[in-house]
Amino acid sequence: MGKFIVSEFLCEQRQELPVASADISEKSILVVGANVGLGFEASVHLAQLRPKHLLVTARDVAKCQQTIIDIQQRASISAIDAQPLELGSFKSVVQFVNQFEEDGFQVNALIANAGMQTTRYSKTVDGWETTLQVNYLSTALLSILMLPHLIETSTPQSASRLVIVSSELHYLANKLSGAGRWPSILEKLDDLDYCTSSVMSDRYNLSKLLEVMFVRELSSRLPASTPVAVSAVNPGFCHSRLTRSTETNPFMRLGVATMKTLLARTTEMGSRTLVHPAVEPGEIGRHGRYLSCCEPKEESDYVLSTEGREVSRRVWLETIDVLNKVDSRVQRIVDEHLRAR
Ligand SMILES: NC(=O)c1ccc[n+]([C@@H]2O[C@H](COP(=O)([O-])OP(=O)(O)OC[C@H]3O[C@@H](n4cnc5c(N)ncnc54)[C@H](OP(=O)(O)O)[C@@H]3O)[C@@H](O)[C@H]2O)c1
Repeated sequence: MGKFIVSEFLCEQRQELPVASADISEKSILVVGANVGLGFEASVHLAQLRPKHLLVTARDVAKCQQTIIDIQQRASISAIDAQPLELGSFKSVVQFVNQFEEDGFQVNALIANAGMQTTRYSKTVDGWETTLQVNYLSTALLSILMLPHLIETSTPQSASRLVIVSSELHYLANKLSGAGRWPSILEKLDDLDYCTSSVMSDRYNLSKLLEVMFVRELSSRLPASTPVAVSAVNPGFCHSRLTRSTETNPFMRLGVATMKTLLARTTEMGSRTLVHPAVEPGEIGRHGRYLSCCEPKEESDYVLSTEGREVSRRVWLETIDVLNKVDSRVQRIVDEHLRAR
């Protein structure tokens, strides 16, 4: 059953996870949000495996430069570049993809790791609620614009990978119930009047649910002849800076620190869940799946329910509509590479 079960969570938190050792000397890997946390540790792992090329992103040029220095302190790699990417701006996503193409880079695996957690309502420069855009819409835009590049490098022997970093907290998302009756799901989720404090307290979980749905929708539209393996991963509860903006008072800080001391995986252990699906064989079995402890696991009951499937399909269509207004390549990529459902 796709539910958050405390005993299962505790068991998984203690599980030792596999260290990737695949030969990636001919692979080019892209890690989004690599300056700190899970993205940084995943990048160090990948750099130690000596890929053909490692491209990492951080939100600005200064962070990009520092990220390269930090990774090189832990792994000797010269085939590394960093490009700025701010998910709170569609323009930045488009600029990133254009620069990637101008530089003639290739990608065999894209780890869409960057994400944020807040319970405060704010808007991005594009007018979307920030968590909705950063964790979901911009991640979807990047994934779709990069899809032709993943397809280009994919082979039947070794499929390219799209790894979207989600969370087990998608099991707890509870604000989509009844969404099948909303005229526009994304507009409602964005609406200030709808986004009460109770809705915003679920926003991070919801953004992770939307990522799981996106992976299922995208993978179900990729023809079998297109060997790109797409998965949503759960890194587990890990030490990182993710909760920084929710630790608004000393009690919260103490509570989170205690929870982390008792339960959290090290950042390095958590990062293995990102690296494994990006480089290890077995990608076809992971295609379209939600992964926990590097293995496929059932998505939430809501995702698998009749309503969840219909909401998921509608969110996909609305997402493509929104993103195509940002960049008309989106619909072209969908028409060219995905089948209708
Ligand atoms: N840690 C956990 O327990 C846990 C559990 C489940 C899932 N996750 C997921 O794991 C992923 C990585 O999180 P983490 O735990 O490593 O947290 P983190 O230490 O806060 O790292 C998050 C990364 O995302 C970047 N980022 C945040 N907002 C961004 C934006 N608007 N545009 C571009 N990049 C942005 C951050 O850049 P800055 O440093 O510049 O902000 C940083 O590189 C996230 O998707 C998170 O939801 C984490």
